[in-house]
Amino acid sequence: MKVTVVGAGAVGASCAEYIAIKNFASEVVLLDIKEGYAEGKAMDLMQTASLNGFDTKITGSTSDYSKTAGSDICVITSGIPRKPGMTREELIGINAGIVKSVSASLIEHSPETIIIVVSNPMDTMTYLVHKTTGLPKHRIIGMGGALDSARFKYRLAEALDAPISDVDGMVIGGHSDKGMVPLTAHATRNSVKVSEFLSEERLNQVKEDTKVGGATLTKLLGTSAWYAPGAAVSGLVQAIACDQKKMYPCSTLLAGEYGLDDLCIGVPVILGRNGIEKIVEIELSDAEKAHMSESAEGVKKTNGLLEL
Ligand SMILES: NC(=O)c1ccc[n+]([C@@H]2O[C@H](COP(=O)([O-])OP(=O)(O)OC[C@H]3O[C@@H](n4cnc5c(N)ncnc54)[C@H](O)[C@@H]3O)[C@@H](O)[C@H]2O)c1
Repeated sequence: MKVTVVGAGAVGASCAEYIAIKNFASEVVLLDIKEGYAEGKAMDLMQTASLNGFDTKITGSTSDYSKTAGSDICVITSGIPRKPGMTREELIGINAGIVKSVSASLIEHSPETIIIVVSNPMDTMTYLVHKTTGLPKHRIIGMGGALDSARFKYRLAEALDAPISDVDGMVIGGHSDKGMVPLTAHATRNSVKVSEFLSEERLNQVKEDTKVGGATLTKLLGTSAWYAPGAAVSGLVQAIACDQKKMYPCSTLLAGEYGLDDLCIGVPVILGRNGIEKIVEIELSDAEKAHMSESAEGVKKTNGLLEL
């Protein structure tokens, strides 16, 4: 199992580290345009191998895509992150050009690869990869919902004063402050609906804190977060590499599911060796349906800014 991670910055390096620590891939190639940067990160990470007990070989490359040849999975994290006060949508001008050229170079050397898009605005970047590469839709996956769901569970556990392992929940919709749809009515503590323990007001607070989860961290850190994003990507990579058939909310091209068409947005999917093996349609309340279609409108508006 060979995995390439393009962008050896905060998220890319964190993702490579979590993949290595989980010890399921034979090789991870980090690639960046900054001279020597990916090589340096790869060497530093390799020097943790004996300490952390993994055998995954991590190598670095400065813009040499021949090193990525034959990758089973490619992760795109290249591009600029947001600064405090910025929305993810504001990154489109620079990141669209980067994501388009990076995905073309990856496919040239790994025509059978599965691509995971992380760069923001992620749903629009995932759509761009669909429009410009022609890869089958099950091999293009946008990562956002896995991270947003982890942030949702963190906020739920905080509100419940419970360990996170007691809590389950999912966030679907667009990966944006306004677009996220945290499914509070489906969230549970050990199979009991969280609404049994939390007031509507407290649940609404959890929902709002989840939606601005990224912005809260960007304000504290001065740039966007990387540990949880890296861990979330590594979860998707592992589900594919190990054919786990796990359900994650991922951004995928919809053709009528959830009443939506011709956009990529977060919905529950089953991930296995073929990438997205199934889109799971769950029953949404009227309020959730309305929020989902509002979210889709936002994503389509951002997609409209692409020069296709
Ligand atoms: N989808 C999500 O849930 C999620 C979460 C966090 C961050 N992000 C996004 O991920 C992206 C990366 O964030 P980061 O914090 O790692 O940023 P970063 O600045 O730390 O790293 C980005 C790296 O990309 C490299 N790069 C730029 N252009 C490139 C190119 N053409 N080819 C190869 N490498 C190139 C840069 O040199 C840099 O090292 C941002 O767009 C950010 O908004 C998405």
